[in-house]
Amino acid sequence: MLLLAKSAFAATPHSEMRRIAEMVAMMPGVAAAVACYSEQGQPSLRDALLSLRGGNHEAIILVPLVLPLEPSFLNWITRSLRRWQSEHPGGWPPIRVSRDIAQSLHFELLLAALINGAAAEPAIPADAAARQEGSLVPPQKRRVLVCEGGACNAAGADAIWGHLRNVQVDRKLRVTGDGTMTAKATCLGPCNLAPVLQVFPEGTYYGGVTEAAVDRIVEEHLLGGRVVQDFAYEPTGRKQRLRIVAVNPPTGE
Ligand code: FES
Repeated sequence: MLLLAKSAFAATPHSEMRRIAEMVAMMPGVAAAVACYSEQGQPSLRDALLSLRGGNHEAIILVPLVLPLEPSFLNWITRSLRRWQSEHPGGWPPIRVSRDIAQSLHFELLLAALINGAAAEPAIPADAAARQEGSLVPPQKRRVLVCEGGACNAAGADAIWGHLRNVQVDRKLRVTGDGTMTAKATCLGPCNLAPVLQVFPEGTYYGGVTEAAVDRIVEEHLLGGRVVQDFAYEPTGRKQRLRIVAVNPPTGE
């Protein structure tokens, strides 16, 4: 069973998701339950799927703990699964996706319990919004924009964004080299090259971005200063199509 949330940035939400997964793991018929994230947070959906693959499970059930469930969700998950399965062929049990939790028969009961519980919570201080704190101006010189426009979302941009954010934390990209900030963007322009990201200060466009491409862009471009030509697209004044880039077989398979 995979419990999918959108993002977790700190230890507390990660441990809360693990606690929910432990509760699910006690349920009859569940051999394993793993909390995972479609954007930032570890493990990512892809890594969680790969960890369950080959475990002789009858099926993998994906439960999105995400509200609202956007219409593009099933689209990007289908395309991302197709890509991950072609990058890691064999050993996949059937994967089923549960219904939106808002459609659950018990959702109204859950909401009522949450609303009743909120009445007992301490109130938020009335002056919380008025308190103003200062901000540091960040010293980072590099910026990566990940397109979250319609075409890129449908092509799995959420998973690419999540992978980049996880690598950013793992490799300490904010304070390594020139320092890199990351941000989501609306449509960056070349939608037929989805998923697209753009690296500044050069403004280099990358298209058909996969997790493996993100790893190379981080290593070669952000840290090494060299454009990754396999995924880069220069402005030519003419329409361009996505190039098919051979994916190196993963090591150890
Ligand atoms: S939707 Fe991403 S480039 Fe247009």
